[in-house]
Amino acid sequence: MNSSSPSISASSKTPIKSDILDLSKIPEHIAIIMDGNGRWAKKRFLNRVKGHEKGAETVKMVVRVCREIGIGHLTLFAFSTENWQRPKNEITALMSLLKKFLLTEQKSLMENEIRLRAIGQLEKLPEDVLATLNRTMHLTRNNHGLQINLALSYGGRSEIVDMVRQIAEKVQSGMILPEAINREIVSQHLYTSDIPDPDLLIRTSGEMRISNFLLWQIAYSEICVTDTLWPDFSEDEFLAIIKNFQCRERRFGKV
Ligand code: IPE
Ligand code: IPE
Ligand code: MG
Repeated sequence: MNSSSPSISASSKTPIKSDILDLSKIPEHIAIIMDGNGRWAKKRFLNRVKGHEKGAETVKMVVRVCREIGIGHLTLFAFSTENWQRPKNEITALMSLLKKFLLTEQKSLMENEIRLRAIGQLEKLPEDVLATLNRTMHLTRNNHGLQINLALSYGGRSEIVDMVRQIAEKVQSGMILPEAINREIVSQHLYTSDIPDPDLLIRTSGEMRISNFLLWQIAYSEICVTDTLWPDFSEDEFLAIIKNFQCRERRFGKV
């Protein structure tokens, strides 16, 4: 990523027309497992970090499209609890890329009414990154357009453990009766308590797995896995996936 690259607010090369998408059936929440940066770089004999840099450009495109078509929530899996096990130099590069991304995009987040939030074990992030993240979240807190939920140091199992601990404490102190625990109470104690469940989950780079992402929330999400590596993921493919989503019949267990 460099500072001259187009930002979130750069206008689309092709205007998104209502003949491509049914604007009355836009998903409320899209979640994405942005995978394949390393393989993209390897194919080009580049350092994996170059793949992450190129991947940051795809993030800007996806954010712009979501804003243009009126998506409410975009949740991006940017760094998992398991990703802390990667080589130190890759973690350092990812963290500095994240900080740079937040700093360079703050202006266009404001211009485009985008609110940025984060879910995950944020206390594990380096101090300077966390400070920049907190500032960006604070700055954008009153924006009511698209909401981006960055999953950072995020793991679905840790989220469930944290939820169980919080509910157990409330039971212990008498605030909640065990028999009152239901799905709503569980949802209210997840990091995503005020975020609707994803309607559409996209994973790039072809892996047929969830990799510890939003385990509770994706119970009824429509899933799309594409072989395209995240840095190669295009606006046309993103729109085609949303179009495909609009053609699906969501039955939620009914007939
Ligand atoms: C996704 O790309 C980005 C992160 C997990 C941070 P990868 O880095 O996992 O790329 P591959 O899967 O090795 O190609
Ligand atoms: C999932 O990708 C995490 C993110 C996209 C941030 P990984 O590359 O870490 O997942 P695995 O190792 O293929 O399951
Ligand atoms: Mg991967």
